[in-house]
Amino acid sequence: MATDLAAVAKRLPPELRVRERADADIERVVEFQNRWATPSQWMSPAAARAMQNASPEPLRLVLLVEDTGGRVQAVGSTSNGGLFASPDGSWRVGVRTAPEWRRRGVARALLEQLAHHARTNKAMRLVAAVRGDEPEGARFAEAMGYRAFHERIDSYIDVPSFDAAGFDDPDATAERAGVRLATYAELLREHASDVEAFQRELLPAIWDMARDVPSPTPMPEQPPPFEQAKRMFFEGPGIDPPSTIIALRDGHTVGMSVTMVKENGTAYTNFTGVARAERGKGIALAMKLRALRDLSTRGVKLFGTTNDEQNAAMRGINRRLGYVPDAPTTMYEKRFS
Ligand SMILES: CC(C)(COP(=O)(O)OP(=O)(O)OC[C@H]1O[C@@H](n2cnc3c(N)ncnc32)[C@H](O)[C@@H]1OP(=O)(O)O)[C@@H](O)C(=O)NCCC(=O)NCCS
Repeated sequence: MATDLAAVAKRLPPELRVRERADADIERVVEFQNRWATPSQWMSPAAARAMQNASPEPLRLVLLVEDTGGRVQAVGSTSNGGLFASPDGSWRVGVRTAPEWRRRGVARALLEQLAHHARTNKAMRLVAAVRGDEPEGARFAEAMGYRAFHERIDSYIDVPSFDAAGFDDPDATAERAGVRLATYAELLREHASDVEAFQRELLPAIWDMARDVPSPTPMPEQPPPFEQAKRMFFEGPGIDPPSTIIALRDGHTVGMSVTMVKENGTAYTNFTGVARAERGKGIALAMKLRALRDLSTRGVKLFGTTNDEQNAAMRGINRRLGYVPDAPTTMYEKRFS
């Protein structure tokens, strides 16, 4: 059954109206979310558009609530994640109401239709993230019958004050392990005559590592088709070639730390992974040190990351580097039976 916007509208304060987000609204929605975003969550409108274009999610539903002046006052969205759709039928859901309009039933009305859309499209479970500094989100999730099941932790390192002197030289560490560290930018230059062959080898290698990263919902077994994956992972704002570091053994990728550099002076690690056979040799720490070295020459202020609470290995590395954790983000779930 189609989304019943009239049912939502009926329950909104009379000054507000609801509609589905159109393509032209992508930037306005991001600007609304950016008003409350942490440095890691913040996204430039242009980057958000590029990332959404690279990763189509045909089942995504975004509902927009506007006031009489056309200003966005609430946004709700749900999606199965498109090519990242979890094999267990988990969908993500998120709702935000501008503070002036809270406790007027806006989020409840949105969530009901979002959940209906997800169920209609065979969702088995809805998963929502509530930031540790937004206790209203936790109260709302509980009132809507969601249950806390998992924690994720955002943390940051202050790049200008980071001192690498207390650490072994990352290239020396790599050499001892028999691997070479190179930036993605360097490797693109080295493989200039056949970048695609290089990326085609990289994709399954990083996908295998990514599937080992603890996460609240399982990842698909297979990576997206190459052409799609290329746009999502190897091009665009999600990867900054000079600060994205790859570890190679005999020319083959055995580790990768993917860095994104944003216009708000923050860089963010989208992914760090080391192949199983290469763990415990200091390679991940060495890759992060190399990324930090590059970022410090580029005026980047903060370097952020997000890890599952259970990710002892990566959290241990980040602690050693001096990352400071935010209050944990709690993941809430509702299962459909
Ligand atoms: C969570 C949030 C979306 C709620 O928006 P809202 O439009 O104010 O929510 P509603 O008015 O529809 O609330 C529905 C019910 O949730 C519960 N609830 C919502 N906010 C609450 C609060 N601050 N304290 C206690 N209960 C709360 C109540 O039971 C409420 O019903 P009631 O007002 O009749 O008692 C809003 O506070 C917000 O944007 N927070 C930041 C983002 C976030 O954390 N989103 C949730 C995770 S996706």
